[in-house]
Amino acid sequence: MKKVFLTLCAAVGLALVSCSEAPVDRPWNDGINIIPMPVEMQVAEGSFKLTSSTVLAGNTEEGQKVAQFFADKLAKSTGFNLKVADKGDISINIDPALEMNEEGYHLNVTTKAVNIEAKTAAGAFYGMQTLLQLLPAEVESPTVVKNIAWTAQACDIKDEPRYAYRGFMFEPCRHFFSVEEAKKVIDVLSTFKINRMHFHLTEDQGWRIEIKKYPKLMEVASKRIEGDGTEYGGYYTQEQIKEIVAYATERFIDVIPEIELPGHELAAIAAYPELACNTTSITPRIIWGVEDVVMCPGKEDMFTFLEGVIAEVAPLFPSKYFHIGGDECPKHSWENCPACQARIRELGLKDKPGQTKEQQLQSYVVERMEKVLAGYGKRIIGWDEILEGGLSPDATVMSWRGTEGGIASALQGHDAIMTPSSDGMYLDHYQGDSKIEPVGIGGYAPLEKTYNYNPTPDTLVVMKKDHHILGVQGNTWTEYIPNGDILEYRMFPRLIAVAEIGWTPLAKKDYKDFTRRLNNAYVRLDGHSINYHIPQPEQPHGSCNFVAFTDKATLEFKTTRPIKMVYTLDGTEPNAQSTEYTAPIEVTE
Ligand code: ACM
Ligand code: ZN
Repeated sequence: MKKVFLTLCAAVGLALVSCSEAPVDRPWNDGINIIPMPVEMQVAEGSFKLTSSTVLAGNTEEGQKVAQFFADKLAKSTGFNLKVADKGDISINIDPALEMNEEGYHLNVTTKAVNIEAKTAAGAFYGMQTLLQLLPAEVESPTVVKNIAWTAQACDIKDEPRYAYRGFMFEPCRHFFSVEEAKKVIDVLSTFKINRMHFHLTEDQGWRIEIKKYPKLMEVASKRIEGDGTEYGGYYTQEQIKEIVAYATERFIDVIPEIELPGHELAAIAAYPELACNTTSITPRIIWGVEDVVMCPGKEDMFTFLEGVIAEVAPLFPSKYFHIGGDECPKHSWENCPACQARIRELGLKDKPGQTKEQQLQSYVVERMEKVLAGYGKRIIGWDEILEGGLSPDATVMSWRGTEGGIASALQGHDAIMTPSSDGMYLDHYQGDSKIEPVGIGGYAPLEKTYNYNPTPDTLVVMKKDHHILGVQGNTWTEYIPNGDILEYRMFPRLIAVAEIGWTPLAKKDYKDFTRRLNNAYVRLDGHSINYHIPQPEQPHGSCNFVAFTDKATLEFKTTRPIKMVYTLDGTEPNAQSTEYTAPIEVTE
């Protein structure tokens, strides 16, 4: 019996910058590849050609700023030093009087000119992003691409988002990510019209934002000792936070901070043990999972601490929303704490059907914080547990344990953001067979499952409460995401599917066509050096590595979405030119 090596990989067309003079075949640029798919599009004859003498124009200061942003961006890949003037070949017209969605735009491309009309600068920015997606994908290259015609298909597009909230959650607590990594993903997501970044800044395993009033948050709470004895840590200074927020704002992404309360705060409690019911000394949590030690709402000092934190955090973020967490707060310590029980008596809280007095105590904390944040002009968002003890008057619910929280919230007349872990919105879940994917937290959310999620439940349409669904968010929790490469691997391309869910009308969504357009998007992601996920060849009944002594074996493979698979049988690494897998492979030696 001879030894046979079977090595498979899935191949995608990678963008290679050609040095030769010969025209390069770039099949990923065939057809229209816009993501998210626009609301209305008419394709016309011919195309608009961008040249070194093309001039961009904006009718207002804001419009000129958007034009300049894209002139600078286009300079990198085209090498053209494009001028921005009052009149031009690519004109941005912003008119607040237009009857149009706040983020909508009208893009008209002819063989001679490009016109973008929008009510706001955000709309104009999205119109320009669509124009970039009509140009070859190499437009996202960080260096000059030669031998390419910078043409955009002539067309007329009238577009607006399905939802006002199209978000992703950035979580640097379980594992920390640099300012540069944050900017890298912000830059890419803005090209797909994502407009919110939920910035999860505090956790049991690490506090990640500088608070000047409480120095031990940086000295103690931002660090933990790993299983191998090494110290792991990191936090953003307030200057770095401002830098990230400014970068996102320039790309029309609103950054929403999250300060978890009253649970998920062990790191802060390690720094200031008096914040908990029982003040024994403790360290930031070194394993994953839900922590039993939580803040003590029986103590006024705990509220003073949170108010001090909010006083420094709120002004750093222009967003009208502020996320107060509220999830996974075990109540055992409150049940046994004299201060918490005294607070419960003082408030007259009593167990009711479906609501313990401790759940109502959590609602008391949330309501007090809602009032504090209202003083800074902020509205609160909380995870769906904030429903359990009764919702605060102005709270928006982030529905994560399924869709029930979002439905309950809307039925009570509150807004909701849908991010159900059960429906493909937890992008830390596996996107392929767990046996061959990098180790993850569990769950299964292949691209198609994520893509097919519809954030507006039918019940709410029937009950005429669907306007309370603000939108959708993809979450990438980082317990099993130790670095930027794996973060990008889990985020992409699934967040691009979230972008299409958030923008494109339901009737226009088409998974097959989405995967076709994705081939073009991959080349754009290559321009940003994003380590996106490529489906692995999987065995239909669960993948495994095994050795078997047999005369003949038939090996069958599939992928989680249609993509070319190639293989070798001699132990060498397959490449795009290797034999294509088209049918089960019969191995006879
Ligand atoms: C959550 O995943 N605990 C919101
Ligand atoms: Zn207590």
